[in-house]
Amino acid sequence: MRGTNMIVAKAPAKVILFGEHAVVYGYPSIASALDLYVKVNISKRKENGLVVKSNQYNIIWDNPKKVPEPFKPLRRIIDLISKDYDVNIYAKNVYVEINSDLPPGCGLGTSAACSVAFTAALLEHLDFQYEKEKINYYAFEGEKVSHGTPSGIDNTISTYGGLLLYVKKDKPVIQSLENPPNLVFVLIDTGIPRNTKQAVLSVAKLFKKHSIIGSVMDVIGDIVNTAWTEFQKGENADVQTIGELMNINHGLLSALGVSSAKIEEIVYLLRKKGVYGAKLTGAGIGGYVLGLLRKEITDRLEKTLRTHGYKYFISRINRKGISIEHIR
Ligand code: PMV
Repeated sequence: MRGTNMIVAKAPAKVILFGEHAVVYGYPSIASALDLYVKVNISKRKENGLVVKSNQYNIIWDNPKKVPEPFKPLRRIIDLISKDYDVNIYAKNVYVEINSDLPPGCGLGTSAACSVAFTAALLEHLDFQYEKEKINYYAFEGEKVSHGTPSGIDNTISTYGGLLLYVKKDKPVIQSLENPPNLVFVLIDTGIPRNTKQAVLSVAKLFKKHSIIGSVMDVIGDIVNTAWTEFQKGENADVQTIGELMNINHGLLSALGVSSAKIEEIVYLLRKKGVYGAKLTGAGIGGYVLGLLRKEITDRLEKTLRTHGYKYFISRINRKGISIEHIR
């Protein structure tokens, strides 16, 4: 970090656009990087020793032997980098501060974005040579600490940005799209915490009882492939078609039993206000509802959401992935 007072690394969060739940059974899914970030600042301390502060959790980590739970993925990254580059990072005078546009555990990939931003800021601070591939590798190792056997989609999309088509396999198939259409999303918090494990389990139970669920999954797979073909048209993609596919996907997620009264209330509020399409995103039951915005209705919609007391985010697709800035 020669001549620099602070390094700021910004890594995007993500949202699942199509194919959640069916992805668990080997069907494709599509995710997008968001214009919402986890930011990691690194500067030099006067004293030796690593200090990490998270403003979201309001905790400080300053003892290498006592790691607060949310920092365990970061410890794994530090240990790997220390070993690979033969350096003792804990003995260096490093001050790390973590900020996020989104709350932790909201299903929008903030843990992966944190690992990506932390890795990038640290490698940059230490003046080490690296490629994006290396950031993705270390961040994935961090993700394994948070999620056991993650798919790798969250760290990949946060590192590279854009849209990703993902198929879960022993070796996952990931296709990226760096020039997606210029879409604007609205994300509305249902206020109900999501429970991915429980939602995935309830779909598995339903599938076991009704083999017809296999046909529902087949249609979701077709929707994902149709949407991907549309996205590949870049600026010429038909936004109306993408919105309609979102609505159809949502209907099928309801058929899988992962919608809820609150989600439906928000989905219909969005549709009434004239979005191109609306659906639940991620595990469902709670979490966020995703709408594809029509620019002309943005002001009116925001006013309605505020009147109803909803917490929401508006976001475009992030195309760049991780970015690093030196502040002098
Ligand atoms: O809500 P999230 O971000 O935990 O997403 C879950 C997505 C599922 O397809 C339901 C599960 C999975 O592992 O892909």
